[in-house]
Amino acid sequence: MTRLSSGLLLLFSATIAVHAQQEICAKQVDIASEADLSSIAACSTFSGSVTISGAGINAVAWPALNSLTGSIKVTSNPHLAGLHLDGLKTSTGTITLYNNTILSVVDMPNLQSINSLEIVTAPNLRQLSLSSVETMKSLKIEDTGLDNSGTLPWSRLRQATDLGVSNNKFLKVIDMPSLKVVSGKLVIAANGVMEGQSDGSSLLLSNLTACSNCTFRHLTELKVPSLSAVSASLSFDETSLEKLDVPALKTVGQTLSIVSNNVLSNISFAELTSIGGALLIANNTELTTIDGFQNLKDIAGVLNMRGAFNNISLPHVTNVQGGMSVLSSSNDFDCSTLAKVKAGARGKTVCRAKVVSAKPTNAEGSLVNAGTAAGDISMGSAFAATIMTAAAILFF
Ligand SMILES: *[C@@H]1O[C@H](CO)[C@@H](O)[C@H](O)[C@H]1NC(C)=O
Ligand SMILES: *[C@@H]1O[C@H](CO)[C@@H](O)[C@H](O)[C@H]1NC(C)=O
Ligand SMILES: *[C@@H]1O[C@H](CO)[C@@H](O)[C@H](O)[C@H]1NC(C)=O
Ligand SMILES: *[C@@H]1O[C@H](CO)[C@@H](O)[C@H](O)[C@H]1NC(C)=O
Ligand SMILES: *[C@@H]1O[C@H](CO)[C@@H](O)[C@H](O)[C@H]1NC(C)=O
Ligand SMILES: *[C@@H]1O[C@H](CO)[C@@H](O)[C@H](O)[C@H]1NC(C)=O
Repeated sequence: MTRLSSGLLLLFSATIAVHAQQEICAKQVDIASEADLSSIAACSTFSGSVTISGAGINAVAWPALNSLTGSIKVTSNPHLAGLHLDGLKTSTGTITLYNNTILSVVDMPNLQSINSLEIVTAPNLRQLSLSSVETMKSLKIEDTGLDNSGTLPWSRLRQATDLGVSNNKFLKVIDMPSLKVVSGKLVIAANGVMEGQSDGSSLLLSNLTACSNCTFRHLTELKVPSLSAVSASLSFDETSLEKLDVPALKTVGQTLSIVSNNVLSNISFAELTSIGGALLIANNTELTTIDGFQNLKDIAGVLNMRGAFNNISLPHVTNVQGGMSVLSSSNDFDCSTLAKVKAGARGKTVCRAKVVSAKPTNAEGSLVNAGTAAGDISMGSAFAATIMTAAAILFF
């Protein structure tokens, strides 16, 4: 071979190698051992889909990876302790980590924007480094061992479409100081819940101004001083809050529900003027006065309250399009305080005090027997159906 042709050959095989490399970076790859990892190790952009699964993997490090447009799935690795994607800067793809029982460290310190990241069932996860992420489409962190000992992954997060943090039993404080908008679903539930030890978590969202469909459960503290608009539904359930204060909220697009908060005695929505769906307040055993809706005017759905209230003050509510159903077990409650509330054409108004015990529903969700006070008005079926869709646990 001449010198020239051997040079060409070398170039040619290098080109083949680059092509082969590019090809594998776009392929579906199954990794079952650490040795298998070498096939993709050189990819700096990965557009394929890789599944890393099995008993043969103790650690995954992929320092060359800079940009992910495909997917990385790390699932059911009983021996995997660490996942290190230190070079990763952008991800328009998805990263899912499911059922990695001893996984304790996940490092993506340089990642700035991310499409979707889900970490579900990682009971030993202690370190999640995501400290550069500012925007993301979807983040789900469920059933992990994350606690408050280190820097939390979302300190710089400004915006998300969907955000779910639930069932992280060691996580007692959730503080997202930069978060401004969650345009889709926001679910914070069952964090810091350990039987006999703690009832939930603090939730501090000091800069949150808007969310769309927001569910908050098992909270011991809540700070949402800037929240001013909820475009779909908002619910506070099973919290240990004595006071529920949402001072800047002006509108809720759909249902506002406050259910089963067993020490709640004060509800305050000082700026709230309109609710596009139902207002549901039920099974809050310590709540005797409802005076926190002093500016509320419009309720497009059902006004639905169940409890031991003495006093409900809704000075500006005169028209509830979906109807009204208020049952109080208190002897001191006076339905005449709600006399000016009129239902829209499709709704009815029902208000009763001294209900011996507010009765449960039958399987169809209509009242079995709502008590025996005078002035009963039977509920139309459209009305019952509206209540049923508002929540399945209204009656107790
Ligand atoms: C979780 O992973 C273990 C192996 O680590 C496997 O045996 C088990 O089936 C997985 N569970 C689920 C729900 O995937
Ligand atoms: C909160 O929002 C304000 C106003 O937009 C901004 O100046 C401030 O830096 C934000 N705080 C954090 C911690 O992001
Ligand atoms: C809000 O979330 C609830 C519960 O997850 C769901 O049933 C409902 O369809 C959602 N509504 C919107 C408008 O996304
Ligand atoms: C009422 O709330 C308590 C907690 O405050 C809860 O344990 C119970 O299940 C709730 N009842 C219903 C019917 O939702
Ligand atoms: C709730 O707290 C506010 C002060 O934030 C107070 O004005 C109001 O009277 C309280 N309501 C009840 C029922 O304690
Ligand atoms: C009910 O609450 C309102 C507002 O807090 C108050 O003005 C009114 O006196 C209370 N009525 C009764 C019967 O306690």
